[in-house]
Amino acid sequence: LFAGQTDFLKGVVAMSGLPAGDRIEVCFAGRSNVGKSTLINALTGRKGLARASNTPGRTQEINFFTLGGDSHYLVDLPGYGYANAPVAIVEKWQRLLKSYLAGRQNLRRAFVLIDARHGVKSVDEEIMRLLDSAAVTFQCVLTKADKVKEKDRERILDQVRGALAKHPAAFPEIILTSSEKGDGIAILRSIIATLE
Ligand code: GTP
Ligand code: MG
Repeated sequence: LFAGQTDFLKGVVAMSGLPAGDRIEVCFAGRSNVGKSTLINALTGRKGLARASNTPGRTQEINFFTLGGDSHYLVDLPGYGYANAPVAIVEKWQRLLKSYLAGRQNLRRAFVLIDARHGVKSVDEEIMRLLDSAAVTFQCVLTKADKVKEKDRERILDQVRGALAKHPAAFPEIILTSSEKGDGIAILRSIIATLE
């Protein structure tokens, strides 16, 4: 699947702009700056495909990427929990994010990215509750594993496991990734490839 063609399709700012839901779709959600765009680049092996940046709030649209020619969509969502964004903008993103997550029939799985140094925060819980109520299966991906010391790893994993246990839509397996070092990328690719 990932050996095939990947391309940017479009950035969407309103529900009316969504492409037809005629393909298998997975999305990447998470706090601003957690590494969503970088992960999409690592998965597809194309560095500049999704725009990554040090500036939180870089991705402000729902960005659609085609994968495997025309069989799948990868979706890069705007980050949440960015404290410095203007309230009106935050509310607009949140509305769009909520409508998308709750209303997308072909969405097979949401990957909820969590910074491996910080664990699950209250804004992450909010998204998880939203996914529960929309009955969208979600799976946690810990990012920036290269920045976590070995001795802190189990503690964070326990915290994340504890948080997931409260959510009926959570898929139990947690994937530890580093887009920098490549950890977990092959596993994540194979998970996406097995979704039907
Ligand atoms: P928004 O679009 O603002 O929501 O952010 P995002 O979640 O798309 O984050 P992005 O991919 O832009 O990455 C944010 C920063 O984290 C960038 O400086 C990346 O280089 C860095 N980063 C992402 N993944 C990793 C990783 O696995 N390891 C390390 N060390 N840095 C990473
Ligand atoms: Mg981004």
